[in-house]
Amino acid sequence: MKILVTGGAGFIGSNFIFYMLKEHPEDSIICLDALTYAGNLSTLKPVLDDPRFRFVKADICDREKVYDLFESEKPDYVVHFAAESHVDRSIDDPGIFVKTNVLGTQVLIDACVKYGIKRFHHVSTDEVYGDLPLDRPDMFFVETLPLKASSPYSASKASSDLLVMSYHRTFGLDATLSRCSNNYGPYQFPEKMIPLMIANAMADKPLPVYGEGINVRDWLYVEDHCRAIDLILRKGRSGEVYNIGGHNEMRNIDIVKLICAELGKPESLITFVKDRKGHDMRYAIDPAKIHNELGWLPQTMFRDGIKKTIRWYLDNRSWWEEIVNGDYKEYYQKMYGNR
Ligand code: NAD
Ligand code: DAU
Repeated sequence: MKILVTGGAGFIGSNFIFYMLKEHPEDSIICLDALTYAGNLSTLKPVLDDPRFRFVKADICDREKVYDLFESEKPDYVVHFAAESHVDRSIDDPGIFVKTNVLGTQVLIDACVKYGIKRFHHVSTDEVYGDLPLDRPDMFFVETLPLKASSPYSASKASSDLLVMSYHRTFGLDATLSRCSNNYGPYQFPEKMIPLMIANAMADKPLPVYGEGINVRDWLYVEDHCRAIDLILRKGRSGEVYNIGGHNEMRNIDIVKLICAELGKPESLITFVKDRKGHDMRYAIDPAKIHNELGWLPQTMFRDGIKKTIRWYLDNRSWWEEIVNGDYKEYYQKMYGNR
């Protein structure tokens, strides 16, 4: 099958492309990516010469280019990762989140309806459910919960979820949707908590923990997310939402301490800084549906995944050093300078 992957030069999209080309030698992939600050063509270097792979630089909001691509390539499946993905940036500048995440998604699903495809898979997030209280460990996100976004990022993702489901019902678009918890692993942009803390610790820089560090996230190794999407794409039921998560809840402060310990760095690097506005307290996924229907279970335990991830950042310094020494410096100063 021919799969169009949007946002494949980013963190999860690139890991998904590597996974699919390895697991499904018969498939071919076209990656559509605008190469924003978060997209990095060098990440895709290992597959750029693969005859089953083609990279196209384009913005998902550019209707003409998107339609041309559908007309010339006639993809069977679309897996849609492209998005503005960082909560802090959405608080600083919400507009681009609405444009890319909502309007860009609309352009893509319009193209799917116009040209016809077998399935559109929308990669969404658990953040669309809002958050859970810290003192209710019995509560989890289930697919039937109403949407209740907290940040402009999650609101834009929730909007795109609704739009995709409306195209399923109104235009008969074959669509599936997944809502995953926090991912970690290779090639994650260093603005996100885990790679930021690894990169700062390696440089003996302060580790900026928001608030008291007691917010809880439910961490999943990126390859487990990719395997889940592959399963949903092939075997999931059209019009259904699948939560993805591995029951791995951790407090931010405990992860940062673990990173210090793994890298042999002192905890005195930890600096508590002003909290994120609207900061969600706890995310926790109930993955029963994807487990019962599709047999999915995570394969990488956090204790192994975090070691592998730290090892990757140690072994691939040039990948992230190039980023942190570029425009990112300005971003870091703006976000953390007066915090
Ligand atoms: P990322 O920021 O690392 O990558 C986003 C990619 O999209 C980049 O390559 C960027 O160039 C591309 N892009 C952005 N705007 C574009 C546009 N207008 N046209 C074409 N390409 C564009 O993001 P990520 O962390 O890999 O997340 C991928 C998807 O998964 C997102 O939809 C996100 O909401 C979702 N998600 C992420 C996580 C997580 O923990 N990172 C968890 C659940 C869901
Ligand atoms: O839950 C899925 C979501 O996970 C995805 O939809 C988003 O795209 C992805 O960015 C991620 O969102 P979070 O806001 O949870 O991830 P982030 O890495 O930005 O932050 C994780 C936690 O760490 C959060 O509670 C905020 C905190 N944090 C983050 C940064 C960047 C800090 O304490 N210090 C920091 O410098």
